Amino acid sequence: MSRISSDPTWWRQAAVYQIYPRSFADSDGDGIGDLPGVTSRMAYLSALGIDAIWLSPFYPSALADGGYDVDDYRNVDPRLGTLADFDDMVTAAHTAGIKIIVDVVPNHSSNRHEWFQAALASAPGSPERARYHFFDGLGENGELPPSDWPSHFGGPAWTRIVETAGPNAGSLGQWYLHLFATEQPDFNWDHPEVREDFHTTLRFWSDRGVDGFRIDVAHALVKDMSLPLRSKPLLEILVDDGTDPIFDRDEVHEVFAGWRSVLNEYDPPKAAVAEAWVPFTERRLKYAQPSGLGQAFNFDLLQAPFAAVKFRTIAQRCLLEAEASGASSTWVFSNHDVVRHPSRYALPDGSTHADLEAWLLADGASPELDSARGLRRARAATLFMLGLPGSAYLYQGEELGLFEVADLPASSLQDPTWFRTLNTVKGRDGCRVPLPWSDSEDNFGFGGGPWLPQPDWFADFAASVQDGTAGSTLEMYRSALKIRRELQSEESLEWLSEPAAAVVHYRRPNGWEVITNFGDAPAELPFGVDHSQVVLSSGELHVGSIGAETTLWVAP
Ligand code: NOJ
Repeated sequence: MSRISSDPTWWRQAAVYQIYPRSFADSDGDGIGDLPGVTSRMAYLSALGIDAIWLSPFYPSALADGGYDVDDYRNVDPRLGTLADFDDMVTAAHTAGIKIIVDVVPNHSSNRHEWFQAALASAPGSPERARYHFFDGLGENGELPPSDWPSHFGGPAWTRIVETAGPNAGSLGQWYLHLFATEQPDFNWDHPEVREDFHTTLRFWSDRGVDGFRIDVAHALVKDMSLPLRSKPLLEILVDDGTDPIFDRDEVHEVFAGWRSVLNEYDPPKAAVAEAWVPFTERRLKYAQPSGLGQAFNFDLLQAPFAAVKFRTIAQRCLLEAEASGASSTWVFSNHDVVRHPSRYALPDGSTHADLEAWLLADGASPELDSARGLRRARAATLFMLGLPGSAYLYQGEELGLFEVADLPASSLQDPTWFRTLNTVKGRDGCRVPLPWSDSEDNFGFGGGPWLPQPDWFADFAASVQDGTAGSTLEMYRSALKIRRELQSEESLEWLSEPAAAVVHYRRPNGWEVITNFGDAPAELPFGVDHSQVVLSSGELHVGSIGAETTLWVAP
């Protein structure tokens, strides 16, 4: 029997757990996590206390970009299961009171998608080509790409094809756009069939019972492809005013208004969250407006150093931003695209993104991590974040305190970044290593020999080791998520500390207080707080003081 709530606002303060299906649990021993594997771990997810699962893509795919290269938007990759397995998973989740959010990847398909295959088999100028961005090249013989746009994963954003139809069959011909890997051709969102087909996809999964959608690269769908294509040697928003040819154009919101109408055909309406790496301006609010997707990720805390003023300013600003858009804020520290946060916090203060990449390239050997500090900070940051109003997105394995696997052998790497940068940027495989469930079973209880090798140190982090162990990271997450349900009654808070202090202190309307000491030395407990009221601590408890880099949850 379904225990799923029909409250249309369920997503506003939900704790959402991201599953990267290939790396979660493998039920059939082929070394690749699958949907029955997710179903088999529903009791674990229920005991963790999450409200929803967000599933990264599980669709048929050649896995050129870990499944974000989709062959067929309305099916399940046979390695991961069947549509019937999907239905069983939804039923099991709903029976456990857990909602399901699936990933939609609308900016690009895979090059194996039937529409792209039809485009390749047709001549330039044909209707089949019009669903993607095919252009003649520049230069005397079209030998230069149509623009200088780079791909996110390195190399150019254009690939030239050999024509198979038309007068030039057998010769090098047009180029197609792919902002990501060669295997991920960008759709032409000015084409009505593309728009219509995604409505069909949204209805397909909604009819199968999913509760919401996460929208991949939501800010890139509609592009200004008028000729001559404008120069854009860096793939980032240079001026965020709607004039960028690729990102955050106003027209994208027409697409999402259409999506909202589809999502509102259901009762309760389906939720949606935009992945849009747009800087903080009022333009970012549009992705989260109720007439659009309803919610958007902000990656501000994820990109911030562990520092009181930063965390407080960002939290304050994001809450105001959410209020202004009518949405609730989102929070996230880790996902399948970034170095796990205990590792980030264990690097020397001031480390930049380039430092992180260099550290990965050095197999995590240099600089040496201060792991104790990394985990201490990660736990404190997590409790700071889980106490805030809004929805918290958690990434599988963070409840175990997992670090990045930085020393994966080069021969095992699969991220297209590694190949497209000619082995100079290692990429995201280190946060995608299959989970350790058990310290005593083969492959740490994951299933078959995993598609990425698991390190020996996973044994100490296995769920079996942490289960029931007081003070373990798993038990901390379980307690926090349980209390969180009580704490999140209203969507507001009151700041009780000075903006510049190392201790950040806030109170929720129902009296729960959260106190974080970001400093590296113990601090006095704020006036009026007694340590006997502390029900959860990310670190050791002390009478009358709060430890360095520690968060406390204080009961009313
Ligand atoms: C964002 C996804 O999170 C990432 O994993 C993927 O590589 C790109 N979008 C392209 O789909």
